[in-house]
Amino acid sequence: MAARMINLMLTSCTSEELGASVVNAHDAEELHAGLLAPEACISPKFLYDALGSKLFEAICELPEYYPTRTEAAIFERHGAEIARVAGTGTTLLDLGAGNCAKAASLFPLLQPSQYVAIDISSEFVHEALARLRQRFPKVEMEALGMDFSNRFELPELVRAERRLFFYPGSSLGNFTPEDAQAFLARLRAQCGPDGGILIGIDLAKDKATLDAAYDDALGVTAAFNLNILRHVNGLVDADFDIRQWKHHGFYNAARGRIEMHLEARSAQQVRWRGGDRRFEAGDCIHTENSYKYQQADAIKLLERSGFEATRVWTDPQRWFAVIHAQAIAP
Ligand code: AVI
Repeated sequence: MAARMINLMLTSCTSEELGASVVNAHDAEELHAGLLAPEACISPKFLYDALGSKLFEAICELPEYYPTRTEAAIFERHGAEIARVAGTGTTLLDLGAGNCAKAASLFPLLQPSQYVAIDISSEFVHEALARLRQRFPKVEMEALGMDFSNRFELPELVRAERRLFFYPGSSLGNFTPEDAQAFLARLRAQCGPDGGILIGIDLAKDKATLDAAYDDALGVTAAFNLNILRHVNGLVDADFDIRQWKHHGFYNAARGRIEMHLEARSAQQVRWRGGDRRFEAGDCIHTENSYKYQQADAIKLLERSGFEATRVWTDPQRWFAVIHAQAIAP
């Protein structure tokens, strides 16, 4: 079943998407440094090539991966109240918009005056907006292709009034708490005195539920994690033999985070453009962290970044929180 699903995904990616990818000098240097680090690591941003993005979409369908459906249920159940609190007629900035589906489902309630879809893949988001414009012809829409995780400056075409940042999916968890605070502070700097944020946060919960969500029975998360090696092979001419690596995804309760690693099944020498390294059997490459917050800590994080939480919505099990927070004066 998993193999069939992955085959279907492969046939819907072009050979260019699956083959040699284009890498910029900064990414090549980052990969090189990570692979040679005492504790080898690969940045999670390299999980998302064309196939990786499709595998992530499949993860969101898995019974074990509760965040997507739990957040969707919160929006479904509390949408009208969320719109009352966040307000209509805002400048809605969708961070990591992808296919724009999450924001679009809230359009009838939020009725934004301008919708700005921001994603690292500008092509993807332009296509999604073309479809959305037909459904909502009265909403002014813009697409911005940018990596908003580091620097963040909005062009003049983005209205300055009542900016509402929309950051669902618990993606904040993929930053360290320090980087999350810096990121939120950059948003605060861009949102003016009347702005705010509507954000999805995955909450800490029992280890068994978390372990299963990041190490599912079908092996889709394993494929998602292993695919990073295939992507790196294409980016820097590396020769990772994917069959010689094993996925680990587990909750590290002491650190309050999910960790994803790849473990070498056997001793091997790996070469890439400009470098090489010997991995012994059992050596690991760290590929992702996903922090899980206590609700109170998420609110404190927002406060330290210049936002004040106005309202929190959760599911009956309190597994996930959607928080609206207003910008506060510096
Ligand atoms: C994108 N991000 C919020 C996901 C998460 O849950 O941290 C990425 C992911 N990694 C493995 N499964 C999903």
